[in-house]
Amino acid sequence: MPSRKALVLGGSGLTGGHCLDLLLQDDTWGQVSVLVRRPLSLTHPRLIQHQVRFDDLTEALAEIQVDDVFCCLGTTIKKAGSREAFYQVDYTYPVEIATLSLAGGATQFLLVSAMGANPDSSVFYNRVKGEVEQAIDPLGFRGFYIFRPSLLLGKRQERRPAEEIGQKLATGLSFGFVGPLKKYKPIEAKTVASAMVETARNQPFGKQIYRSHQIQAIYDQRVADDDVTQKK
Ligand SMILES: NC(=O)c1ccc[n+]([C@@H]2O[C@H](COP(=O)([O-])OP(=O)(O)OC[C@H]3O[C@@H](n4cnc5c(N)ncnc54)[C@H](OP(=O)(O)O)[C@@H]3O)[C@@H](O)[C@H]2O)c1
Repeated sequence: MPSRKALVLGGSGLTGGHCLDLLLQDDTWGQVSVLVRRPLSLTHPRLIQHQVRFDDLTEALAEIQVDDVFCCLGTTIKKAGSREAFYQVDYTYPVEIATLSLAGGATQFLLVSAMGANPDSSVFYNRVKGEVEQAIDPLGFRGFYIFRPSLLLGKRQERRPAEEIGQKLATGLSFGFVGPLKKYKPIEAKTVASAMVETARNQPFGKQIYRSHQIQAIYDQRVADDDVTQKK
């Protein structure tokens, strides 16, 4: 495959940070751009950081030509301060970035959504996640890959007490997430990032939705394939 160019959104966050690390270790991508509000303390010969204002992305994205967009943006209503501010990060920015990057030649868009995403949901968070999926779908990417993880596991810089309780409970009860409950099993953010990178490399056609257990399966297959390659 010729050398591809990636764009990462949310590179300072948990899932986006893992995406960045994995993309920079992978020769498939000859250039990895990241849009950030504040510079990252990360340097790499293939990494280009763009410090931008997210409420005015037109100019920045006009200068960045990429193939694959990894959208790991997100916030919480508490952190954002209001439902409107949450909506801007979880809906408006991803849709704008998708529209502008497609116009610039991007062919694949990978979106971290969430389990429960549904535009008709009565739960605001799930509704916004469903709406953002629904808005990007008709834009016409060659590949639009939606990842719907359950609770994300991983080390965060900030404290999120509700998620920490969820993580502890889920770790203790992990044996119970079988059969129809497997889609609820919490998942490492690194596993999600790895499945995203693997999917971008495989380039399936059209819209694909990956639920949490399917994300885990992509990752497990990748690890198994690597083991076979190493043993040869
Ligand atoms: N947490 C969970 O358990 C969970 C479960 C399922 C799905 N999800 C979804 O998965 C996605 C990734 O989650 P995560 O926990 O990996 O994310 P995260 O660690 O909270 O990182 C969020 C990223 O979004 C950026 N961001 C937030 N507000 C912004 C703003 N106003 N302008 C520009 N950038 C902004 C942050 O940049 P700064 O560093 O500049 O703030 C950061 O890079 C999100 O869409 C989330 O809803 C999360």
